Amino acid sequence: MKKVPKVIAVAGKGGVGKTTVGGLLVRYLVEEVNDGPVLAVDVDPNSNFNEVLGVAVKNTIGEARELLKKDVPAGMTKDVWFEYKVHEAIVEQKGFDLLVMGRPEGPGCYCAANAVAKQSIDALKANYAYVVADNEAGMEHMNRLVTQDVDALYVVSDPTQRGLATAARIHQLIGELKLRIGNAYTIVNRIDAKNAPFLEGIAAEKGIALAGTIRNDEALLSNEMEGKTIFDLSRESLALADAYRIFDATVKKNG
Ligand SMILES: Nc1ncnc2c1ncn2[C@@H]1O[C@H](COP(=O)(O)OP(=O)(O)O)[C@@H](O)[C@H]1O
Ligand SMILES: [Mg+2]
Repeated sequence: MKKVPKVIAVAGKGGVGKTTVGGLLVRYLVEEVNDGPVLAVDVDPNSNFNEVLGVAVKNTIGEARELLKKDVPAGMTKDVWFEYKVHEAIVEQKGFDLLVMGRPEGPGCYCAANAVAKQSIDALKANYAYVVADNEAGMEHMNRLVTQDVDALYVVSDPTQRGLATAARIHQLIGELKLRIGNAYTIVNRIDAKNAPFLEGIAAEKGIALAGTIRNDEALLSNEMEGKTIFDLSRESLALADAYRIFDATVKKNG
C-alpha cells in the first residue's frame, strides 16, 4: 500500500519570509516531529530554498522537462526516462530530500511533458511522510504546485495593514482555484512585539484568523551573512521559537 504524505505549502507575496518559514518547517519536521522522510520542494523559479536548507543543487525538473520535448534515449519510454531524471534531481540530505522545480514551462506549453512530470512527481510523493513546498509569490502560481491536494497552507504576511489585505486576497483566490486545501493559515512575520496587538486587531477586523506571529529576528540576518543554514540557527532564536509554536499547534504528529 502506498503511503499518503502530508503536503504542506507556504505562500505569500515576495520577500515576506516564505522560504524562511518553509526552512524552519523542514527543520521542525526533521528534528521535532521525526516521523518519516521529508521532501522539500522548491517551486520558486528564483529558487533559494536550497541555500536556506544548505543543499547544493545540480539538476532541476524544469531542465528535465525541456529535455523531454526532445528525443529520449533509444529503448526508453518517456515516462521511465523522466522518472530517472526526477530521481537524478533529488538531493538527499540527513532527514530530508530536496527537489527543485526550476523554470516553469515557457510559452507554448508542451502539455504531454507536463503530464508526465506531474505523474512522476505524484508517484515520488509516496516515498515521503511530509512534503513541504516553498512557492513563488502570487497565487496564480499555486496551480504549479506539486499536487492538487494540500493538507496545510501557510500564507505568510508582512507586518503591515496592506500585507494583511494581500493575505486576505490570497485566501480568497485559493477558494477560486481547483485545489483541495485542508487547512489554510495566516502567519504575520517580522513583527515588532509591541505592534502585535495592533496587527492582531487589524487581522480580526479583516476576518483573518491568525495562526500566529513571528518576531523580527536579527539572528536570521547574521546567520545568513555568515553563510549558515536554517539548521545552524540557535534554539534561542526568536523566529524559531515563534515558528515552532505555530507548527506545534498546526502540524500534528501522525495527524
Ligand atoms: N522573522 C524574521 N526576522 C528577520 N528577518 C527575516 C525574518 N523572516 C525572514 N527574514 C529575512 O527576510 C528576507 C526575505 O525572506 P525570505 O524567506 O527569503 O522571503 P520570501 O521567500 O517570501 O521571498 C531574508 O533575508 C530573510 O532572512
Ligand atoms: Mg522565497
